[in-house]
Amino acid sequence: MIVRVQCLPYCEFKFKVSRLLAILFPLMTTAIMFPRMKRNQKRTIRVTCESGLLPYLTDEVEALGHTPDSTRPTGLEFVCTPDEAMRLNLHLHTAQNVLMLLENFSCDDPEELYAKTKVIPWEEMISPEEYLSVVSSVNTPTIRDWRFASLKVKDAIVDRVMDAKGKRPNAGPQREHFVVHLYWHKKNASLFFNMSGRKLADRGYRKIPHKAPMRETLAAGVVMATGYDGTQPFVNPMCGSGTLAIEAALIATGRAPGLLRTNFGFLHQNFFDTSAWEQIRRDANAQKNKATPPPIVATDIDDNAIWAAKKNAQTAGVEHLIQFGVCDFVDTPLPDAPGIIVINPEYGERLGEVQKLAETYGRIGDFFKQKCPGCTGYIFTGNRELAKKVGLRASRRMEFFNAKIECRLLKYELYKGSREKTDN
Ligand SMILES: C[S@@+](CC[C@H](N)C(=O)[O-])C[C@H]1O[C@@H](n2cnc3c(N)ncnc32)[C@H](O)[C@@H]1O
Repeated sequence: MIVRVQCLPYCEFKFKVSRLLAILFPLMTTAIMFPRMKRNQKRTIRVTCESGLLPYLTDEVEALGHTPDSTRPTGLEFVCTPDEAMRLNLHLHTAQNVLMLLENFSCDDPEELYAKTKVIPWEEMISPEEYLSVVSSVNTPTIRDWRFASLKVKDAIVDRVMDAKGKRPNAGPQREHFVVHLYWHKKNASLFFNMSGRKLADRGYRKIPHKAPMRETLAAGVVMATGYDGTQPFVNPMCGSGTLAIEAALIATGRAPGLLRTNFGFLHQNFFDTSAWEQIRRDANAQKNKATPPPIVATDIDDNAIWAAKKNAQTAGVEHLIQFGVCDFVDTPLPDAPGIIVINPEYGERLGEVQKLAETYGRIGDFFKQKCPGCTGYIFTGNRELAKKVGLRASRRMEFFNAKIECRLLKYELYKGSREKTDN
């Protein structure tokens, strides 16, 4: 049945009755049911990560006392309080974002998206003085461009705040303040508040990136994949801007990576609790391990890289824990006790000539074999052909992604007389 709604002489809308009810019913019920945000109320949290980091993120989340209810390739979900979610933002090394579920609803088209988003009492969460941005991941037949979905959500939020407060928040692309995520798959839409704001990989210490730097979260995952826990030496020849060594130092000393940041999405929410946050930070500071870990060594042939790495380590507060040196990787000073050696050579995707690099990979194999017996060696590379040039048998291959490039962390048990084999 079709109902004609005559508003003004020039304005006529056609609605199917079922369609009208589909929009109005949830408007009424959700307005009654939507719970006000409370600090001690458990809510669904989705922690996201980049491809390949899930096993390390899962370990971290469990170590912080949470049991995932569900996992997906790039994240996991569980319930916790907003205060616990702030703590996750501070402590997780491999997470991309901590998202808090605000609402799940069925949704057929952009108009319904607008209507059902506007039901949520946004004025309780965002001040009209705040800055809003909306990020969407959309896979539904009724919309082609995710930006249109973001626009609908943004309009619904600012209109709602305008109706309630007489002023609308500014909105735009900067993901630093009040950030809302829409996931809309077929008929299912979910709205999340991004408690991290900017992605957690942006710790704030890498002021000088140098060449082809590894993302901080990826570097943390690589360090974790080696089994490093701060009780053995950690050696990082070809350190570039020092990301692996810095992340190792943070792990060794139990420093929460989020302590380096001053901005998070939750700081821009109305219900943000300053005293709870200060207590969480105090607890994290108290948990730092004061003991000096075994040596962490970082070298590079490029003195600009070492200059950048030192500056970054200084910003991260771990410069005193890392021994820096400018040298060819084969001359890296090795600690007396056997430790973990991680090398991230260029792999020809973004830098360097593959042919020239083949020789370097061969030299890495020789270095491992001749100078590092008793240690465990790792090579992180995105080029399998080059990895074969190492000439040693890898005992394990762990998959990661560096941006879109599929990479491997290759593990080499280095005992005297390592068998030569090119099966990487
Ligand atoms: C891919 S980058 C390492 C990036 C690093 N993981 C980071 O996060 O910044 C490779 C580094 O190897 C260094 N390098 C190249 N050849 C070298 C050699 N023979 N000895 C020592 N370092 C070398 C380069 O200067 C560069 O900084």
